[in-house]
Amino acid sequence: MRTEQPKTIYLKDYQAPEYWIDETHLTFELFEDHALVHSRLNMRRNEQGAGQSLPPLVLDGQLLELVSVALDEQLLQAGDYQLDEDTLTLQPAAAAFVVAVTTRIEPQHNTALEGLYQSGKMFCTQCEAEGFRKITYYLDRPDVMSRFTTTVIASRDYPILLSNGNPVANGEEKGGRHWVTWEDPFPKPAYLFALVAGDLCLIQDSFTTMSGREIDLRIYVEPENREQCGHAMDSLKRSMRWDEEVYGREYDLDIFMIVAVNDFNMGAMENKGLNIFNSSCVLAHPDTATDLAFQRVEAVVAHEYFHNWSGNRVTCRDWFQLSLKEGFTVFRDSQFSADMNSPTVSRIEHVGFLRANQFAEDAGPMAHPVRPDSFIEISNFYTLTVYEKGAEVVRMLHTLLGEQGFRQGSDLYFERHDGQAVTCDDFIKAMEDANGADLGQFKRWYSQAGTPRLAVESRYDAAKGTFSLLFRQSCPPTPGQSEKLPQVIPVRMALLDREGKELPLQFEGEAAPVGTERVLAVAGAEQVFTFTGLTEEPLPSLLRGFSAPVKMSYPYSRDDRVFLAKNDPDGFNRWEAGQALALEMLQGMIGIHQAGRPLLLDQRLRDVFYALLTDRELDPAMVAEMLRLPSEAYMVEVSEVADVDAIHQVREWVRGELANTLADVMWPLYRDLDDGAAYSPDAGSMARRSLKNTLLSYLMLTGSQDAVDACVRQYVEANNMTDRQAALVCLVNSDFEKQKQAALADFAERWKDYPLVMDQWFSVQAACALPGGLVRVEKLLEHPAFSMRNPNKIRAVIGAFANQNLVNFHAADGAGYRFLAERILQLDPLNPQVAARLLTPLTRWRKYDAARQELMKAELARIMAASSLSPDVYEVVSKSLA
Ligand code: PHE
Ligand code: ZN
Repeated sequence: MRTEQPKTIYLKDYQAPEYWIDETHLTFELFEDHALVHSRLNMRRNEQGAGQSLPPLVLDGQLLELVSVALDEQLLQAGDYQLDEDTLTLQPAAAAFVVAVTTRIEPQHNTALEGLYQSGKMFCTQCEAEGFRKITYYLDRPDVMSRFTTTVIASRDYPILLSNGNPVANGEEKGGRHWVTWEDPFPKPAYLFALVAGDLCLIQDSFTTMSGREIDLRIYVEPENREQCGHAMDSLKRSMRWDEEVYGREYDLDIFMIVAVNDFNMGAMENKGLNIFNSSCVLAHPDTATDLAFQRVEAVVAHEYFHNWSGNRVTCRDWFQLSLKEGFTVFRDSQFSADMNSPTVSRIEHVGFLRANQFAEDAGPMAHPVRPDSFIEISNFYTLTVYEKGAEVVRMLHTLLGEQGFRQGSDLYFERHDGQAVTCDDFIKAMEDANGADLGQFKRWYSQAGTPRLAVESRYDAAKGTFSLLFRQSCPPTPGQSEKLPQVIPVRMALLDREGKELPLQFEGEAAPVGTERVLAVAGAEQVFTFTGLTEEPLPSLLRGFSAPVKMSYPYSRDDRVFLAKNDPDGFNRWEAGQALALEMLQGMIGIHQAGRPLLLDQRLRDVFYALLTDRELDPAMVAEMLRLPSEAYMVEVSEVADVDAIHQVREWVRGELANTLADVMWPLYRDLDDGAAYSPDAGSMARRSLKNTLLSYLMLTGSQDAVDACVRQYVEANNMTDRQAALVCLVNSDFEKQKQAALADFAERWKDYPLVMDQWFSVQAACALPGGLVRVEKLLEHPAFSMRNPNKIRAVIGAFANQNLVNFHAADGAGYRFLAERILQLDPLNPQVAARLLTPLTRWRKYDAARQELMKAELARIMAASSLSPDVYEVVSKSLA
């Protein structure tokens, strides 16, 4: 919290550090009401560009009480150094020297969950991006890499004392205190530092690496969570094997640890050898976690593990390069998830998420390039653009260079830059050098914000037997970028005949056809590709697998889309065609609804659904995806002016209509799938549960007694959380008041001692679109299990309401907006990072009608007017109002 105007930091101002820190020796003394941190830094001048005189040493530090500072063993007096709100400045007298600092901090009062803090009874740290400066004075920037040795001293109430690397010594102190020393042989930036102290139980396993080294794998959790670690451990072992097989990356320390904490701002953190996780991303048991939660644990464990190479061994030069590690690592974890599950379904889920959320960010006031040019608070740039769009950019490289070329590029990148802090340009350069490719134009994906539009048209010349595809690309302006240049857009495609078979592809000028699927690299603002040798007009299947993060349009007729939804050999594009068909119909009906005319359902959607429901050969997980209508969030994103009430009502009406007219085929399928089989976590069983629960949600819309009976029975008899929670969601969103209240009461009683399960109980209710949402949410805030100190609870109640409950949040009187603004103002002094994240739905005000725009802006203005806003909230609010 500060009084002066927060400063903007620019990429163009980057300068190499004046000093290096070769070695960092830390000793932590942990007490019940404070901690003492003693550091000893072996420092050396950066020779590069060194002039005659030694520049001052400016160390970062925030919210620290300086106890003592010494230079080359000489204790300094007040006049020997300068101290201000975020720096400590010394004047070294030699090119190599030792700085020793002692600071006093209060982890017990650290509600921001950055630096050293307490979660429950345990001490833990979170240092990325700039949290280490809340522990001690340091060069807290990722390009300063140092070898760390850490000693932790605490009372015996904290039997487990952990830090990065390997334990090298331990001992007893008088007064029941003990200590452990850890040594990390790999130089690392301070953001990868970690420390944990607590009374934790250990789940242990081992892994033999490709070169035959045995790694000690450890998961530490609070004793009551012991039974919920099996899936994380299994995911870890599979991740380690996968990274060896797919990227040739072997683990490098002798021990790998994961610790689960309940209070955590994000999902998890890749600290070297000591990953710290939000418990929601580690714990999973069939009774307490849904299939989706199981998949999330698998993906996050993999993500953090993969960072050991993409992030830790090769790290970022500065925080503008964040996507260097995050985009690449999200791409890697998505490849892993695809390999572990159904590749098509997993791609569908990723793309659905990206389009509903990242596209909205890219169209809003916080839009920024994958490599931003400036920021006020770096915590605000852990965004969907840096992570998800960044991963799409890496995926496009993979598509353009091919599996092998990409692997050669990543091998060269890791070999060339091992132990270095580098830039996105270095990553691209390795890809270029390994492939002899020129990616100069491709790099615009890193510097230009906004979602490109790709308008496609075709021309068939029956006389010549040619088919031309004409591509036109453009990109809307974003803050600070009014003009955009064309980017390289890889379009994976095929041409289909009347049976849906892929035709051989032959470009004009080619002697013979080559394959039936190709990647067209669209580089110009306008570009034509012409195929020859065609005897009938083909139907193009374009942007397969969503080969580029763009908004593509092609003048398909509804019949074309029906045909593709049933026949495209590419599973992803079958789904895409079905979604596009549904979206087009929904959009048309919204206009009709707004005009006050009665709704009618185009029978073609029903026919596609009928075909899906009656073809028992299809993968149930795919059928479930295809039966899902485009989400409300995505419908908002594609609207000029989003009418959330109309979107919700029309979408629900269509769902009801489909349920009523297809109940006869849905029932037998539901009953087949609801076979009472013993629970199994395998992909096939998950697929069956997914389809079963999708059907249940449709059947409940018929409002029949049979449906509610089936739902209650499923709730009561479920042998896993996926089925139980799905039934609860249906009941909560229904008008069967008695059954709803009974299920909610039962659920709360059953799971009152399981905070993560109570998060589900909260979010199911907070997201319920029935009238009266705000009143229900305000009541949830009073529930004893709710806490403003726990980010998971905030997300489960306030986050679910503002992000998933569009009709209630956007209530015309603005009460939802006011509620959110008040909660943000209440949270900002406690936890600015989470407060700033909660602002997202208010930043989207330009999407709504004039009256709502005014109400949303008024709340933003009210936040802006509050005294002593954090830089985090200040940045998002000021940019949203600009
Ligand atoms: N680096 C973490 C990840 O993506 C995310 C994170 C950022 C966690 C900042 C905490 C704080 O894996
Ligand atoms: Zn990450």
